[in-house]
Amino acid sequence: MFFKGVPKTFNAITEPTKSAGKKIKAFRITQEGRGNVPAEDIGRQIKTERKASNIFTYNVGTSSATDRIAFRHPAIFPERLAEDQIATWTNERDVVYDCFMGSGTTAVASCNLRRNFLGSEISEEYVEVANERLIMYRHKIKPLSVIETSYTMPTVANGNAAALLT
Ligand SMILES: C[S@@+](CC[C@H](N)C(=O)[O-])C[C@H]1O[C@@H](n2cnc3c(N)ncnc32)[C@H](O)[C@@H]1O
Repeated sequence: MFFKGVPKTFNAITEPTKSAGKKIKAFRITQEGRGNVPAEDIGRQIKTERKASNIFTYNVGTSSATDRIAFRHPAIFPERLAEDQIATWTNERDVVYDCFMGSGTTAVASCNLRRNFLGSEISEEYVEVANERLIMYRHKIKPLSVIETSYTMPTVANGNAAALLT
């Protein structure tokens, strides 16, 4: 992820809290020992969600991708990883660019989350893999007219989720 200045979007990833729904008691036991809770917090409902940490765990291997075409590339990353990052740093209809697109995982994740997508890939073989893969996902996003009408490179697939040959 590259930013110029402060990111314009930050949608924090959240995860369920361990004690979701329970009420805050008068004291809590921590590694340091027993600590009193401020009076105004006692009895308050514990939040059901909290911000996820910045260490993520993903399944790899055959569950990395929801289609089989992706596995014609030897080094795909999990769709879920791409989805989490795209959801955090962009909003619907933003444009996501991946300069090392490989099998097009970032493009797939962008389509699933209704983001527009551009990518570059040096290998013609993998551009074909990505374009073939994207046929199944492109319908999920509405074409972004400015990209559709202005783009003329012959290697661009129809629509705005396009694989470019660099
Ligand atoms: C680790 S793979 C990316 C895999 C991708 N994230 C996926 O899930 O399929 C890196 C890709 O970058 C491509 N690549 C390497 N140098 C490049 C360059 N200068 N321009 C564009 N693509 C390049 C490689 O061909 C390779 O497919």
